[in-house]
Amino acid sequence: MSITLTINGQGRAVEVAPGETLLELLRRAGCKSVKLGCDTGDCGTCAVLLNGRAVNACMLLAVACDGCSVTTVEGLEVEGRLHDLQSASLDSGGVQCGFCTPGMIMAAVDLLSRNPHPTDEEIRAGLAGNLCRCTGYVKQIAAVRMAHAEVDDHD
Ligand code: FES
Ligand code: FES
Repeated sequence: MSITLTINGQGRAVEVAPGETLLELLRRAGCKSVKLGCDTGDCGTCAVLLNGRAVNACMLLAVACDGCSVTTVEGLEVEGRLHDLQSASLDSGGVQCGFCTPGMIMAAVDLLSRNPHPTDEEIRAGLAGNLCRCTGYVKQIAAVRMAHAEVDDHD
């Protein structure tokens, strides 16, 4: 069947197969930042924003997203300028192999949209659904801290 959805600001009509997940649809649409990790909703590597809230794209049927707006890491950059969370992830050393990074950033975008000044404990809770095998999480928490300081500077 055909559904319509907005992916990174672009409206599209897309044919979806029965049982196709949002993750599969997004990768087919060229959003290769959306990674297949566990495929069971446990690792967060497939996290994207659905109508502004972080969701695990492996756990959603594409057909259920008809009419929705989806944002992936590819949609964060504006006119060649990285989002503050992307820059902070690089500057903090929070990107090592990078496999978890897009999902981690999307979870952090959701967190900062709801809570622009999170404590370290709130950052840990906000990233609790995102697993990383490389960094030990300290650098990703620092990245969110750096990004919200950047937001304060822009105010
Ligand atoms: S691949 Fe979706 S949560 Fe792990
Ligand atoms: S940077 Fe390698 S899994 Fe997180």
